[in-house]
Amino acid sequence: AAGSLEFDARPETLGAIETALHACRKCPIGELENSSVMGEGPRGAQKFSGLMIVGEQPGDQEDLAGRPFVGPAGQLLDLHLERVGIDRSSAYVTNAVKHFKYVQRGKRRIHQSPAAKEIDTCRWWLEAERSIVQPKLILTMGASAARAMLGKTVSITKARGAPIMLSDGSELWVTAHPSYLLRLDGAAREEQARMFDADLAAVKARLA
Ligand code: URA
Repeated sequence: AAGSLEFDARPETLGAIETALHACRKCPIGELENSSVMGEGPRGAQKFSGLMIVGEQPGDQEDLAGRPFVGPAGQLLDLHLERVGIDRSSAYVTNAVKHFKYVQRGKRRIHQSPAAKEIDTCRWWLEAERSIVQPKLILTMGASAARAMLGKTVSITKARGAPIMLSDGSELWVTAHPSYLLRLDGAAREEQARMFDADLAAVKARLA
């Protein structure tokens, strides 16, 4: 299709990735009625050696807006980033999977988690972004994003709290997904919120 790139021709600019992503049909999610949402970051995010934040996939609102983390999970993320003192606009924010996976229920589109195979396929795009942005620090939120970076499923509980060194010298931190926090309430929510803040604070300390 027009704009599509073969998997062996890695795009060399973020703009080229964005164009090619729209046409991506390497997995069935791209066949749904959606648009692709790629990462966003500071102007000239190429080789910016800052923080890359990776979520799971765009939700309904992200799909409509064409921007990552603008819906409820994004608002919660913003709140925590602000609390900890990380400037979101200085980070490159993206997702493991670039198209919104959902099932239609009446007028509503209900989020569906991407399958491991879909994450592994879309990883090619994440790596294309990462090779251009070259972040010093990567924060993955939730199991899908952790899988996208590590190539296997890891336990967030076990992997969080300490950096994982990647072969290119960058540092990976793993935390929970803000949508997970949104599904909790009471003491469980408070505890997870505290742990989320602690992970963000650890990342911020490494950014300095
Ligand atoms: N959840 C995600 O993982 N990513 C988004 O962009 C929005 C919600």
